[in-house]
Amino acid sequence: MIATDVGREILRALEARRSMARVKPDRPPRDLVEQVIAAAAWAPNHFKTEPWRFCVVSGDARNKLGAVMEESLRAARAQSNADHVDPTEIEAAFQKERNKPLRAPVVIVVAAVPSQEPKVVVEEELAAVAAGVQNMLLAAEAVGLGAMWRTGKPAYDPRVKEFLGFPANAHIVAFIYLGYPDLPPQRARPRSAARQVEWLGWD
Ligand SMILES: Cc1cc2nc3c(=O)[nH]c(=O)nc-3n(C[C@H](O)[C@H](O)[C@H](O)COP(=O)(O)O)c2cc1C
Repeated sequence: MIATDVGREILRALEARRSMARVKPDRPPRDLVEQVIAAAAWAPNHFKTEPWRFCVVSGDARNKLGAVMEESLRAARAQSNADHVDPTEIEAAFQKERNKPLRAPVVIVVAAVPSQEPKVVVEEELAAVAAGVQNMLLAAEAVGLGAMWRTGKPAYDPRVKEFLGFPANAHIVAFIYLGYPDLPPQRARPRSAARQVEWLGWD
């Protein structure tokens, strides 16, 4: 039994949110992007440390980010000793990486910078930022934007963090690709957490 209309709306919004894999090239206005970012700060956060940091990448900065991501992939490849791969395929992979940030007019990179307070648990800082990211995805949907949470290897490369101006102890939690939806709303596949639940002492 849901007590209020707001309660019903919240549950409806949770079920309606879907990753939007393709967005239009038009850049949404800054106030909408700010609204999406503001939603993160409403996430639960033990000790109220506000561990979230954001870098909004748009315009030509996306090319620069793409170049750093490509560099990151090239470095990883140089270390991997995997030599049985067709050079054309490898070049295509590098080019694909370089173009990734161009898939949306705005990429919001969200990082967690854990507080140095001794009582703070790093995992909890990451959990708070992940909760903030979910708030952002829901806020995007609420203001008519499409969003997709992406990561990939470059998220864990110090080069990428440095380019974005994050400190070395930052953890990149999400690249949120944001823009006006360019695909029809995806139907939610039915989901249930029932199989993942243990009920203790529930008689
Ligand atoms: C931590 C995290 C990282 C993700 N990274 C990627 C990614 O790199 N590429 C991608 O296509 N989707 C990524 N996703 C999105 C999931 O694929 C997506 O949420 C999932 O398919 C469920 O679809 P839905 O968001 O529409 O419910 C990521 C999601 C999370 C939580």
